[in-house]
Amino acid sequence: MQLVTEDNITELAEQRWGTAHDPRLAEVLRALVRHLHAFAREVRLSEAEWMAAIQWLKRTGQISDDKREEFILASDVLGLSMLVVQMNNRLDEGATPATVLGPFHLPGSPQLDFGGDMSDGVPGTPLYIHGTVRDLDGNPVPGAVLDVWQADPEGAYEAQLDVDEARLRALYTAREDGGYCVRTVAPKGYTIPMDGPIGDLIGRTAISEYRPAHVHFLLDAPGYRRLITHLFQEGADYLDSDVVFGTKEQLVVTFEPRGPGDTPDGGKSTDPWLEARYDFVLQREG
Ligand code: BEZ
Ligand code: FE
Repeated sequence: MQLVTEDNITELAEQRWGTAHDPRLAEVLRALVRHLHAFAREVRLSEAEWMAAIQWLKRTGQISDDKREEFILASDVLGLSMLVVQMNNRLDEGATPATVLGPFHLPGSPQLDFGGDMSDGVPGTPLYIHGTVRDLDGNPVPGAVLDVWQADPEGAYEAQLDVDEARLRALYTAREDGGYCVRTVAPKGYTIPMDGPIGDLIGRTAISEYRPAHVHFLLDAPGYRRLITHLFQEGADYLDSDVVFGTKEQLVVTFEPRGPGDTPDGGKSTDPWLEARYDFVLQREG
């Protein structure tokens, strides 16, 4: 019979999980066991604390579904998502930096033309975000697809609402000259969902639960690395305290106020609007 002690259990568990058939899985599982055990030893985890953690994980699973990604949220607020993004996106200095995906991306957004309005009746100040998609040498990347999504002025994403139609999200395709133009309404800062286990935990700390105003982008183009990023509004509240550690200086853009008149899509606005110019720079694959 195997004699299991407090001293040898880590080694025994590591050996057992190291039998995973896939070598990478074996490496990851061994390290997971090693670090979990080290964590429990370091904080001298009590049985009550261990059970509280199990219940917290259980509630995180129970509240999750196709539209609510509480585990992504957990990873985001713990800084793990941003660490994984940074490690896996060590891009050239000239490339647009990546940031967190977040829990609210929905697949299958409708395709809109250059300047198409993805706010479609959602109230707010009109905002045009336009510029080019190009490579590190400055060449346009025609055909790049920009998947764009954002929260409404109440801070709610479509995934959090009971709606039948796509709301504040769309796909745009860069033109031959790399140009793109998104029409939407100005985003506002918002709080992450606080009505679940993540909110409970944050409520027991001095952490601010807010994110600064931003619009999400996911760019895909053949031959280029996928880019998941945001554009943040310069001067927005919470830029220094983003609850998911997602802000980067290169992603902060000015939303210039413009009077009624010509708009970047070649049309005209009777209302004042905001203009954000941004050139996305993609890095080649490999
Ligand atoms: C978001 O920006 O959509 C988001 C990102 C991480 C956590 C919560 C929300
Ligand atoms: Fe967001």
